[in-house]
Amino acid sequence: MKHRTPVIVNILIILTILFIAYFMFEQNASFLSSPYFWGTVIISIILALIQNSIGDLIENDKFKRLTDEEKAAYLQEKKMPYLQRMYQSAFKKQSSTEEKDLLLDHGFDGIMELDNQLPRWWLGLFWFGVAYCIVYLLSFWLTDFAHPEKEYDTEHKMQIAAVDEYLKTAPQTTLETAEFKADNIAEGQELFKTNCVTCHGDGGKGGIGPNLTDNFWINQPEKKLFKNVFNMAWNGSPNNPAMRAFGKNGELSGNDIEKIAAYVYHINQEQPPITTAQGGAAPQGTEAHWEK
Ligand code: HEC
Repeated sequence: MKHRTPVIVNILIILTILFIAYFMFEQNASFLSSPYFWGTVIISIILALIQNSIGDLIENDKFKRLTDEEKAAYLQEKKMPYLQRMYQSAFKKQSSTEEKDLLLDHGFDGIMELDNQLPRWWLGLFWFGVAYCIVYLLSFWLTDFAHPEKEYDTEHKMQIAAVDEYLKTAPQTTLETAEFKADNIAEGQELFKTNCVTCHGDGGKGGIGPNLTDNFWINQPEKKLFKNVFNMAWNGSPNNPAMRAFGKNGELSGNDIEKIAAYVYHINQEQPPITTAQGGAAPQGTEAHWEK
């Protein structure tokens, strides 16, 4: 007669599966304070206990029908702790008489094959795996659990929010602290494309707004070209409201304007001007003599 798994082991397995299932569906540990979770735990424990007492009754009944010898062997084995019994059953070797009973007939090829029963620990793991698989599939199907794109999305959103939060409090560049940095040109070009190109044309060749590649400037509030561009983008033009105060009105941050100004400085000082012959706008304002 086989020994049964102690009820406490069954309860532990049930609790593990319940924990995993709740965790997968909830995606966090908040269920630990939910009455539903503890409700299922209590009901499962009660069911396990009921199943155990029914098992006890059946076991008693079967026990009565054993011979005295079998009874003694059974009681002897029952004294052994559960884990030790599992360990022994996992590595048990049959005697040669036991092997004969298990031998499958392979008359034609002479190979010896034993029809061993799978060890209970193996079967236990197998059924645990099956139960886990069902929980996993259901939660994958019904919730956002384990979907890489969704996880990526949430993480991405969190990162963007963190960057925004940082930028809100991070010190921004001002007219006083802004500096030309060659590293900013590439990003400045992208920002120029989204914010300035509509009026100042491709590459700053001019359109509604003046040509930014030549040396003629309507507005020259600063002595240095880089600061002049920063000033214009921050404060806008005092003469023409079309050139609005991108910085002051909060449309662009100081850091962004620093980048755009680096790009405008680059196309004005480090590249040849786009002349009228090349499709650039005619010079406006007076010739500038920028300080280096
Ligand atoms: C809606 C059209 C428009 C947009 C968008 C615009 N500008 Fe202008 N910008 C102008 C006009 C018009 C002027 C001429 C202002 C004046 O006459 O004083 C100007 C002037 C300027 C000047 C001074 C040029 C000079 O000769 O005095 C700079 C520098 C400048 N803009 C930079 C920028 C930057 C950088 C951006 C993008 C952040 C931008 N502008 C976006 C229309 C625009």
